[in-house]
Amino acid sequence: MTEYLVRKALKSDAAVLEALEHDAFGDRSWGAAGVAGSFGAPGVEILFCSRSGAQPVGFAIWRALPGEAELLSIGVAPDRRRGGAGAALLDAVIDAAGRVGARAIHLEVDPGNRAAMALYIRAGFAETGRRKAYYRSGADATLMSKRV
Ligand SMILES: CC(C)(COP(=O)(O)OP(=O)(O)OC[C@H]1O[C@@H](n2cnc3c(N)ncnc32)[C@H](O)[C@@H]1OP(=O)(O)O)[C@@H](O)C(=O)NCCC(=O)NCCS
Repeated sequence: MTEYLVRKALKSDAAVLEALEHDAFGDRSWGAAGVAGSFGAPGVEILFCSRSGAQPVGFAIWRALPGEAELLSIGVAPDRRRGGAGAALLDAVIDAAGRVGARAIHLEVDPGNRAAMALYIRAGFAETGRRKAYYRSGADATLMSKRV
């Protein structure tokens, strides 16, 4: 499996993040304004994942809250999936959350998103509840958490 480097994204990376997020999410994208708004939002950190010296292939956006953390978004370019980038990003978020004192990390996921569900379960997340009609599609969200 490819070794990935994970680094913090900077405001100067905004265009790269927007393109990557759109590539990963397609019509479920937050849009350029939504993505750009993540930079500088309170407690929010954006991580990029790449091979040494190469363009990022994936990103994660998470937020530190008092005593806990929330994964806001994670995505990998479609042609780079199943290579370990998503797992590397998720591990980095879990580590970073632990370093700032989070005791748990929470997320929402569409239960029909098999890849994401498998990624989270593999990393030790467990279902804690449901949120009705959470997505634009009208689908419910599954709430998941992991103790850090
Ligand atoms: C979810 C996503 C980030 C996973 O990224 P990835 O780089 O492909 O994930 P990895 O290669 O690190 O996979 C790690 C584990 O997740 C699981 N997994 C990932 N994709 C999977 C798939 N399509 N089917 C089943 N399991 C999958 C596997 O357990 C995998 O481990 P394995 O390869 O050893 O079997 C990626 O599919 C993606 O960007 N999807 C679109 C955006 C999205 O839906 N984000 C989540 C929103 S909640």
